[in-house]
Amino acid sequence: EAKGIRVAIDGPAAAGKSTVAKIVAEKSSFIYIDTGAMYRALTWKVLQNRISPEDSQSIVDLLAKTDIDLEQGKSGQRVRVDGDDVTEAIRTEQVTGSVSHIAKHPNVREQMVQRQRKLANKHDIVMDGRDIGTHVIPNAEVKVFLKASVEERARRRYDENMQKGLTTDFETLKNEIEERDRIDSNRETAPLVKADDAIALDTTDLTIDDVASSILEKVNQAIINEGGSG
Ligand code: CDP
Ligand code: CDP
Repeated sequence: EAKGIRVAIDGPAAAGKSTVAKIVAEKSSFIYIDTGAMYRALTWKVLQNRISPEDSQSIVDLLAKTDIDLEQGKSGQRVRVDGDDVTEAIRTEQVTGSVSHIAKHPNVREQMVQRQRKLANKHDIVMDGRDIGTHVIPNAEVKVFLKASVEERARRRYDENMQKGLTTDFETLKNEIEERDRIDSNRETAPLVKADDAIALDTTDLTIDDVASSILEKVNQAIINEGGSG
């Protein structure tokens, strides 16, 4: 039974949003919605169609006829674009390098936000992204803004790549993260910024469990509060 709780988790690249959001969703039996995966899925499709990331009208037209599905599979979330499984394909360097350029267009964001709000209406959810607490669900019951030093975030991505058997240059990763944060923070529409009423958590020296426990505490408090108000 839905409790009417929406958990919004925002922050810059590799702050730990998706890892922690998945844990919080699982422990609360909420649905996890990865809005970054939605922008990545669109980016994959734009690149497939050889559309320029600056051609906002063509991108909006493409998005209008594109199905993006986030499935909660046993072994994690699967992402589908018009039925094709793109879970791995949306994590390539090429997609990562273009996604912020595509996500900056106001008319692209407008359509994405509509889809995200629809998803958030149906269930108790944990949603992560850049503009969830400020724009997509400004009245979310729980709002968290995760941050960490750029060195720590680059190290996390580096370790992640190592585990996949990929050797990447640390400085290149760090530059990529800084560049994406710069574009996301400076765009005109719904930029990456902490909502005034979001709880800021610096995760630089925190473990995944520390961060998840701290958010779960807020979720439990919100459940009590909602229950009390009927
Ligand atoms: O996981 P990672 O930090 O690499 O990024 P992501 O959450 O997958 O998001 C990829 C990109 O999508 C971001 O850098 C933003 O440009 C865009 N995005 C956005 O504009 N708004 C959101 N709510 C989520 C992602
Ligand atoms: O979604 P976002 O881009 O914010 O970050 P993520 O993909 O969830 O986390 C990036 C990496 O940092 C993952 O490999 C996590 O295991 C790791 N991480 C960590 O080491 N310590 C934390 N407190 C949170 C995440």
